[in-house]
Amino acid sequence: MIVQEAHIGTHVDEIPLNLEEEILRLKRDLNAVLLAHYYQESEIQDLADIVGDSLELSRRAASTNADVIVFAGVHFMAETAKILNPAKQVLLPDLLAGCSLAEGCPAPLFKQFIEQHPGHIVISYINCSAAVKALSDIICTSSNAEKIIRQIPEAKPIIFAPDRNLGKYLIKKTGRQMVLWQGTCIVHETFSDRKIIHLKVQYPAAKLIAHPECEESVLDKADFVGSTSGLLRYVQSSPDQEFIVATEAGIIHQMTKACPEKFFIPAPPEESCSCNLCPYMKLNTMEKLYLCMKNRKPEITIADEVMRKALLPIQRMLEMS
Ligand code: 13P
Ligand code: SF4
Repeated sequence: MIVQEAHIGTHVDEIPLNLEEEILRLKRDLNAVLLAHYYQESEIQDLADIVGDSLELSRRAASTNADVIVFAGVHFMAETAKILNPAKQVLLPDLLAGCSLAEGCPAPLFKQFIEQHPGHIVISYINCSAAVKALSDIICTSSNAEKIIRQIPEAKPIIFAPDRNLGKYLIKKTGRQMVLWQGTCIVHETFSDRKIIHLKVQYPAAKLIAHPECEESVLDKADFVGSTSGLLRYVQSSPDQEFIVATEAGIIHQMTKACPEKFFIPAPPEESCSCNLCPYMKLNTMEKLYLCMKNRKPEITIADEVMRKALLPIQRMLEMS
């Protein structure tokens, strides 16, 4: 049964009533794997074969034997899957699902930045474009960045890009000086210190847990700092019952599923807005997911030369983590 129509350009697509059923059917028909990040809307997470952080999703993309990879996440994540699987079709429900960190680090400017710091090893956070990855020596995610930096010989100077908050956090953790690209995440930089302090007064037993993309002032107050999967593991293993969660609120879906008896409070942004939701991640909807599988587009394409150069630093990451 058809209940809606979606207009994409001049083309009109019919949207079936039971989207879940249709997506599962298309997944079987295409022999596709559906990978979803923790910041996707809960319906998408519930349909996915794998829900994970950037590292887990890259590993799964590297090892899949599906014919088609449907990536419910943002563009740099789907690009990483494509670089690891050049012969496979990688679909992203909305090509505009970008990332402020990736957009804030254009490859031509980053190339100049590297040239201004000769002799440095370039470690780039996975939240960057394929073209920036192609200019990098090693890629990392928030799960493995510390481990990777600790493997770099002491005498080797490091450029770390594009997230300055993660970079500052890693400098503190490892004691390694690094030259930082000054990028930020528009979601994690909006958490309000002031409102978090209020919440801590209101819920004195609650633990503050934060993603390392948050500002230093939030990270300094946190009881635990970790990647999305690190935060999820922490709440599962902690004896505590209440948590203030300073990352994109989509992760609370998995936290509640894993620990229904525990209480999760999303960290508030400074303004009265939904700024603790990633506007890029939320561009993907069930309707767009269905349509991308039905039409087998939008599809990720990357120039061969970029793809070839970007593969090596991703492979190094997978070996080093
Ligand atoms: P994770 O690798 O921790 O999932 O982080 C990805 C991201 O985009 C955080 O904003
Ligand atoms: Fe990028 Fe921030 Fe969204 Fe993560 S939450 S995808 S870092 S904009």
